Amino acid sequence: MNCCPHCQGADRFFNQRVAAADLRHYRQHGATGTTRQLLDALTSAGVAGLSLLDIGGGIGVIQHELRAAGVTEITNVDASRAYLKMARGEAERRGYAADARYVYGDFVALADEIAAADIVTLDRVVCCYPDMAALVHHAAAKAGRFLGLVYPRDSWWTKAGVAMLNLLPRLRGDAFRSFVHPTAAVEGVAAANGLRRIVHHQGPVWQVVVFAR
Ligand SMILES: C[S@@+](CC[C@H](N)C(=O)[O-])C[C@H]1O[C@@H](n2cnc3c(N)ncnc32)[C@H](O)[C@@H]1O
Repeated sequence: MNCCPHCQGADRFFNQRVAAADLRHYRQHGATGTTRQLLDALTSAGVAGLSLLDIGGGIGVIQHELRAAGVTEITNVDASRAYLKMARGEAERRGYAADARYVYGDFVALADEIAAADIVTLDRVVCCYPDMAALVHHAAAKAGRFLGLVYPRDSWWTKAGVAMLNLLPRLRGDAFRSFVHPTAAVEGVAAANGLRRIVHHQGPVWQVVVFAR
């Protein structure tokens, strides 16, 4: 298994029950919230004919929606097997699974084996990984045109919320943790990889950012 203890924790945390609930929600409501904002920002920048690397894609909302907007090849790397199975099942139902690749494991460990893409997305994934610099660096390096991120703002209230969220896995003895990484550090890694910010929406908890090359 190509997963660190943290990603093994993610595999347990994002299990079949969580994945089934996410898929039900998506089927009932479509893309919502900050995922919708990220999708709108990317589609207004123009995605037709582009390829997508969706890291930690969950049940694949970004993939399904961008495919419908004209994205061609799709790669989904996820540390959760339950999420990968749901994403693939939904792609099969929508008739495009043959154009998609599903890779299980830690994207940072697998980065050398993953092809670059025009669009790279990390929707609520930076907050699930301890080594932000490695994750964002490898993602940014793969992004030919756009890098889209949804991640928490680094405010005292998001840090307090995440400390509360981490109590449960800590009590259970599970390795999975959530993180609030400093915005300036995330932006610095993107800039060091030749990306400039073209979209920034900041809500009370999450920020939605698109960088372009
Ligand atoms: C909070 S979920 C977000 C899922 C989806 N993007 C969404 O917004 O609904 C975080 C996802 O990131 C994945 N993940 C976290 N760290 C990862 C890593 N290093 N490599 C691949 N996937 C990772 C988890 O398995 C999980 O699917």
